[in-house]
Amino acid sequence: VKKITVRLNDRPYDVVIAAGLLRDAGERIARWKPQRTVVVTSPTVRKYWGATLESSLRAARLRHAVLEIPDGEQHKNMRTVAGLLRGFVRAGVDRQSVIVALGGGVVGDTAGFAASIFMRGVRVVQIPTTLLAQVDASIGGKTGVNLKEGKNLAGTFHQPQMVLVDPEVLTTLAARELRAGLFEAIKCGVIRDAELFHYLEKHRAALLCRHEGALEKMIAAAVKVKADVVAADERESGLRRILNFGHTVGHALEAATGYRSLLHGEAVAWGMVAAAEIGVNAGVTRALDAERIIDLTMEYGPLPPVKAKVDRVLKLLHADKKSVAGVPHFVLAKRIGATKIVGGIRPEIIRAAVEGINQA
Ligand SMILES: NC(=O)c1ccc[n+]([C@@H]2O[C@H](COP(=O)([O-])OP(=O)(O)OC[C@H]3O[C@@H](n4cnc5c(N)ncnc54)[C@H](O)[C@@H]3O)[C@@H](O)[C@H]2O)c1
Ligand SMILES: [Zn+2]
Repeated sequence: VKKITVRLNDRPYDVVIAAGLLRDAGERIARWKPQRTVVVTSPTVRKYWGATLESSLRAARLRHAVLEIPDGEQHKNMRTVAGLLRGFVRAGVDRQSVIVALGGGVVGDTAGFAASIFMRGVRVVQIPTTLLAQVDASIGGKTGVNLKEGKNLAGTFHQPQMVLVDPEVLTTLAARELRAGLFEAIKCGVIRDAELFHYLEKHRAALLCRHEGALEKMIAAAVKVKADVVAADERESGLRRILNFGHTVGHALEAATGYRSLLHGEAVAWGMVAAAEIGVNAGVTRALDAERIIDLTMEYGPLPPVKAKVDRVLKLLHADKKSVAGVPHFVLAKRIGATKIVGGIRPEIIRAAVEGINQA
């Protein structure tokens, strides 16, 4: 069992990582002495893992109810939140209860948001079931939903009581979703952990065939990167921006392709390739390091091709909420394991990188 503490000032919490952990979830949740436990999940996740969690809750003598929200990013909205809040009332949730979010980032973000506003906040335990949620979305306390006008526009900071990560649940995950999470793990290596990067280079086969030990090790390292960055910068003012390596171009690609052809992790993968190119041309990244970043990213493919108008991507880049006065800031790799945030990159350097991934 690996335990990583997210060292927040007011209330530190643990991310526990172990194969088979879901079977002990009830016992661990019982330590919080909930008056009532409500599991929020989706039909797909419930089908595979609902019974395991429910029997562990029963074994721990926890009175529980299950609420389902539909699968898919399009349901990460206020309507789903309203449904959950009413479900909490029906299930008798009060301030002494615990909400358990069992699912990918959509479930975690939506359930976390609903929990944060129900009776001004009830406790949440996150049990992420996609690799992306395990290494990224479940940690850091950001919750929220999309509005018609844009992604993640409504939300709160609401830190979980704990995060339970069981690599075993990844055995039922679609291969493409697994790879999407692996790209975020590569990002963690690039920005802060050269050893993790090297591990991803060396153990690609084991990771892709979901060898439990390899997954556990890789997840723990990636979680540590996110946990440390979040603890140093809980409200996303400074350091947390390094988590956006590959995301400046990635977000623009997602928007330019209507959030349809690329998964978030895949858009980030292309974004990392672009950031490596930009880094070299801006004199920040050594060619050899850029090559390693690009090679590793492509090795965890296949990536769907980018089919977007270059001008549209560039326009969206400048509209990114993280750009300062219309000038996009790029997180670039100083070397593997260290970053530098750079503004004022010459437009032709950015254009060349976007053109590069577009014809790839
Ligand atoms: N809060 C944050 O800090 C943060 C960070 C990154 C991403 N996010 C959010 O996370 C969301 C994306 O999350 P995601 O990538 O996990 O996608 P997702 O939640 O949509 O899950 C992807 C698919 O996998 C299925 N699934 C989940 N677990 C499974 C399992 N164990 N076996 C089989 N199928 C399974 C789901 O039903 C779904 O169809 C986005 O909304 C994004 O905004 C939030
Ligand atoms: Zn991301």
